[in-house]
Amino acid sequence: MNFKIPLMQSTFFDEISIKQKLSKFIISSKKLSMGNYCEKFENLFSKFNKSKYAVFFNSGSSSNLAMLQTLLNLRKIKTGDKIAFSSLTWATNVMPIIQLGLKPVPLDINKNTLNIQSKDLRNLKECKVLFVTNALGFCGDLPDIKKICNKKKIILLEDNAEALGTKINKKLTGSFGEMSSFSFFVAHHMSTLEGGMVVTNNFKYYEMLKMVRSNGWDRQLSLKSKNELKKKYKTDNFYSKYTFYNLAYNLRPTEINAFIGLQQLKKLNKNLKLRKKIFYKIYEIYKKNNNLVNFDFHDISFFSPFAFPVICKNSNYRNKLLSKFHKSGVECRPMIAGNITLQPFYKNVYKKIILKNCEFVHKNGFYFGIHPEMTNTQIKILRKLFL
Ligand SMILES: Cc1ncc(COP(=O)(O)O)c(C=O)c1O
Repeated sequence: MNFKIPLMQSTFFDEISIKQKLSKFIISSKKLSMGNYCEKFENLFSKFNKSKYAVFFNSGSSSNLAMLQTLLNLRKIKTGDKIAFSSLTWATNVMPIIQLGLKPVPLDINKNTLNIQSKDLRNLKECKVLFVTNALGFCGDLPDIKKICNKKKIILLEDNAEALGTKINKKLTGSFGEMSSFSFFVAHHMSTLEGGMVVTNNFKYYEMLKMVRSNGWDRQLSLKSKNELKKKYKTDNFYSKYTFYNLAYNLRPTEINAFIGLQQLKKLNKNLKLRKKIFYKIYEIYKKNNNLVNFDFHDISFFSPFAFPVICKNSNYRNKLLSKFHKSGVECRPMIAGNITLQPFYKNVYKKIILKNCEFVHKNGFYFGIHPEMTNTQIKILRKLFL
């Protein structure tokens, strides 16, 4: 079906002009596998996110896998440790927990913030890591969550794939976690076609993330780290480029992804402001509809929407609304993937846990796309649907 308002309206912001630049770049470049452009994109992205270091990956899923493998390699966690995670999340946030032999502990969300809140963490027993997902531009009370994690010596990881640019008390989401991941897949705030990033302020994590990304070897490491490894393992010069020090993968991006990322980064502030403006134009009408659940923007000082979430007070109304959206040519989808513990890969293995709010969102929620280049006619159609 051809939608009037599809979930993905374009591959990336300002698509035609960037594609023209991209074709020139491909023709004139000697190297298209990971190189200087990837490094430049990492440097500029870390500046944007006010983090010391950034490591570019071939997807958001790879970024999440790499964060956990990094913690394992550095012996911050070990096989069998409990990893708590937000139950409204993406499958490949939970899958690596299972694949790496860790124990998943799903936590319920707050239906007004789509996230875990600090008050839900009081009974977090024996968990070594808390992996939060900042869903659809929203986030929980991250400053308080961080305080609790620090006190309980829990490592906080953030998946900020859907909240790039959101600020809580003027601090960017994705800068609270010891490591935070991003996705640049098509239809995210900014796209590199496929791509992801991990940011951190911790140099040891930074060096290990680069090894995890590339076969466990030391090629992208600082000279100091390379020398330390050589000394520790008595690596000879002939073998040094082919020494695999740590468990790893090949999760490398390409210069093509980095080139698109650099172009997108130049336009990111404009892109985020446009998304925000469009969101509030629609939310103005949404919040007056008594059949819908309003959102809690609490201390969010800049809201950076990824899409427009809709939560109905009951499933009858959701079904009615969904059919109205469908008839008007608006493509809709479940809220991320709904309650992730209800997905076959999870429920076939683990005992069912009652996650009241996440189940509510699963049954009564959906979302549609928000694009920075949406026309006034499209915005009008969307506003009318909530009347
Ligand atoms: C919250 C979240 N995390 C991770 C991912 C995975 O990112 P990718 O598709 O780049 O692997 C997604 C995908 O949309 C997501 O929504």
